[in-house]
Amino acid sequence: MERDLYGAYSNLGLYLRTMQTLYHGITTLYGADFSTLKMGQQMKEVACYHDAYLLVEDGVIVALGGYSEAPEVAHRVDLGGVEVMPGFVDSHTHTVFAASREEEFVMRIKGATYEEIAEAGGGILNSARKLNEASEDSLFEEALERLKLMILQGTTTVEIKSGYGLTLTSELKMLRVIKRLKEALPIQIRSTFLGAHAFPEGFRERKSEYVELIIDQMLPQIVELQLADHIDVFCEKGFFTSEQAQRILEAARGLGLPSKIHGNQLGQSGGVELAVAQGSWSVDHLEYTDEKQWELLLGSFFKTIAGQRIPVASGTMPVALPGVSYNLGLPFTRGREMIDFGLPLALATDFNPGSSPVNSLQVVVSLACTQMKLTPEEAFNAITVNAALALRLHETCGTLCPGKRADFLVMKSQNSLAKIPYYLGQNQVSRVFVAGEEFLPE
Ligand code: NIG
Ligand code: FE
Repeated sequence: MERDLYGAYSNLGLYLRTMQTLYHGITTLYGADFSTLKMGQQMKEVACYHDAYLLVEDGVIVALGGYSEAPEVAHRVDLGGVEVMPGFVDSHTHTVFAASREEEFVMRIKGATYEEIAEAGGGILNSARKLNEASEDSLFEEALERLKLMILQGTTTVEIKSGYGLTLTSELKMLRVIKRLKEALPIQIRSTFLGAHAFPEGFRERKSEYVELIIDQMLPQIVELQLADHIDVFCEKGFFTSEQAQRILEAARGLGLPSKIHGNQLGQSGGVELAVAQGSWSVDHLEYTDEKQWELLLGSFFKTIAGQRIPVASGTMPVALPGVSYNLGLPFTRGREMIDFGLPLALATDFNPGSSPVNSLQVVVSLACTQMKLTPEEAFNAITVNAALALRLHETCGTLCPGKRADFLVMKSQNSLAKIPYYLGQNQVSRVFVAGEEFLPE
């Protein structure tokens, strides 16, 4: 009897595992190609199928194309005449934090700058004090709720940084919370160790000691416990110099941890030069850059082989964070010029309680279009294919093609690519599918 039951269940398991679902009733399927990087003029291109189908098996796309060529499949879902696009990728966030900081927001309205607030012990140190007091469970529960809201606005891949701990104990606490989030949600989450976010209280006169602490104590434990997928450093005047950042990144590289950098947010910090020299996967912010740095970034996407200049996907992705410029009144990253220069560009929210309390990539797209003069197509590529490459997740997400995860969005209306930036602050996503399953928050 028991054996029969076991047999029945294992057959059912086999059936479920191999069941294919054919989605149709798709007026336009956006982002449907194998590309892993869009640079310069290519950023204008979005590959589309009209009257399309999408075939999914085991959470992975197995085929797609024009509906007239759809295979015969028993399990079919009519989406009802909607537009569909790949899930969005938010490659830079600080989603785990203990408390909001609207009091600093009001101080800035009244004229204080981000640097002045930080200098007076506010900013990141304010968040660190609150995080130290918060329980691991409350940090987890609150971040979970934040992530659910992000998913409902189309984000199906997200990077989350530590960096509000600034002690070994609290950095580990943050990274454990990110690990729990990875296990609790079906979306792809990547974690980044950002111990070098600010010098903690008590180390402001002993900066090199904090750098040693990161290198000698934090990094080895975090790598040993496999709590981080990357390392990041806030390379900026008043925070970490490019020399200090370099020491930390080199130590991380020695331990096999790839890097991302916060650079050129408040001035020419040397962040871009360092990122390119270290082979960082991305350099983020870039409010202050010029052609010298664009040349370096562009060069990272080419290799010369037998005298031929060949494009490669292993360059340092520039990532703009227009939510920060909007909130802090900084110049917007010169995205229009950078793309015209031939560069790729990604966009992210930088969701955090200080400089960007913005959780929506749709809002970021709107800011990028109106303030940086990206077209809707360019902004779309910047939150999908190029953002996936900024996390080196281009084999699993960023476009819709066979072999990638079935992370896709059903949009509320037609011509949705342009409606996203047009309807600022209005969620254009009606349904979210993560690895082939509809995401329905309880
Ligand atoms: O990306 N630039 C450094 N870190 C964050 C801000 C963090 C904060 O103010 O809490 C950023 O803007
Ligand atoms: Fe950031």
